[in-house]
Amino acid sequence: MLVLLFGANKGYIYVRAEYPIAVKRFEVAINQAKEYGILGKNIWNTGFEFELEIRLGAGAFVCGEETALLESIEGRRGQPRVKPPYPANSGLWGKPTLINNVETFANVTKIILNGAQWYASIGTEKSKGTKVFALGGDVINVGLVEVPMGTTLREIVFDIGGGIPEGKEFKVAQTGGPSGGCIPKQYLDTPIDYESLASIGSMMGSGGLIVMDERKCMVNLAKFYLGFTVDESCGKCTPCRIGTKRMLELLERITKGQGKNGDIEKLEKLANMIKKASICGLGQTAPNPILSTIKYFREEYEAHIIKKECPAGECKALTKITINPELCKGCGICKKNCPVGAISGEPKKTHKIDSNICIKCGVCVSKCPFKAISK
Ligand SMILES: Cc1cc2nc3c(=O)[nH]c(=O)nc-3n(C[C@H](O)[C@H](O)[C@H](O)COP(=O)(O)O)c2cc1C
Ligand code: SF4
Ligand code: SF4
Ligand code: SF4
Repeated sequence: MLVLLFGANKGYIYVRAEYPIAVKRFEVAINQAKEYGILGKNIWNTGFEFELEIRLGAGAFVCGEETALLESIEGRRGQPRVKPPYPANSGLWGKPTLINNVETFANVTKIILNGAQWYASIGTEKSKGTKVFALGGDVINVGLVEVPMGTTLREIVFDIGGGIPEGKEFKVAQTGGPSGGCIPKQYLDTPIDYESLASIGSMMGSGGLIVMDERKCMVNLAKFYLGFTVDESCGKCTPCRIGTKRMLELLERITKGQGKNGDIEKLEKLANMIKKASICGLGQTAPNPILSTIKYFREEYEAHIIKKECPAGECKALTKITINPELCKGCGICKKNCPVGAISGEPKKTHKIDSNICIKCGVCVSKCPFKAISK
């Protein structure tokens, strides 16, 4: 992210130290800008001077929150400030500050060069310009893609991304990372912009777009993202510090087959309270993956709680690996590949799995040439 003081001669690029390639590229770009005289003293003989400094973040997600980021630049622990005052009034060292993603500032030059009309001609009615997405997950072409606002999820996933590998079905896409929500297939044709994503319970965030195929369990997905936010909560306010932990415990129980009637409602209640009562965006958005997966895949939660089943076969405690005797040819491939020796059987005879030994790794399911093993 880029931080500028109004009327200032100094800006900061804040980037996580774990992204060494990004850091290197910034260093190269800043040095090149100095060589061309775009940065430094007396820029192009205007008498104006401007410096850019790279500040490395130590790996805390919350330091992406603007006021925690300011604290971090000032040399303190990265914890959000209560707003107002907003950074535009009182930001870095109490001075009026512009703080935005570098992608946002990168648009400014284009707007100055080509005019506001030109910029406004790209995108949707309210969301203008283009957006860079980091496309990843169960999609053939992964990488950074830049598309006009209003491009549909289908175009990004299937035209640009090349679709889902191994002939699997698209299940959801998660935008906005742990702060966002899942987008199910009925919204594949929704034009993506800030407003439409918010209206379906997700958000743009800084452009993460993770595609998931039919094999992904939505309860496990919510648990995964919540585990991340619990680890990354800075602990300053109680709803986020304690509330997210309670939600994670509920999800852990549900994925272990220990869910109880009323757990879904408890999750919804906690989620809505945490959204409303947390100080910063981390806590305010942490429940989104839970709320959106409950909204679109409530039946998966119910299957875990009532039937003690994981329909996607991802939650190990609820998965039983079985061999279909009608399909098994006794080839022995599964037995050879099982890492814990849970499979027994004579050549050309039906094989068996000892469920007391099986660790549900799923290797045999993928190795059986006759599709005789299922979970
Ligand atoms: C927990 C949390 C993490 C964030 N991480 C990032 C981040 O990694 N990159 C980013 O650009 N914005 C991040 N943001 C959003 C920024 O705080 C800020 O709102 C945004 O960058 C504003 O600039 P923009 O309008 O140019 O995107 C994060 C927000 C929160 C609450
Ligand atoms: S919402 Fe979470 S991350 Fe934000 S200030 Fe409160 S405890 Fe810290
Ligand atoms: S790999 Fe399949 S067909 Fe071969 S023994 Fe195992 S279950 Fe039977
Ligand atoms: S799931 Fe893994 S541990 Fe279980 S029987 Fe198959 S290969 Fe062995």
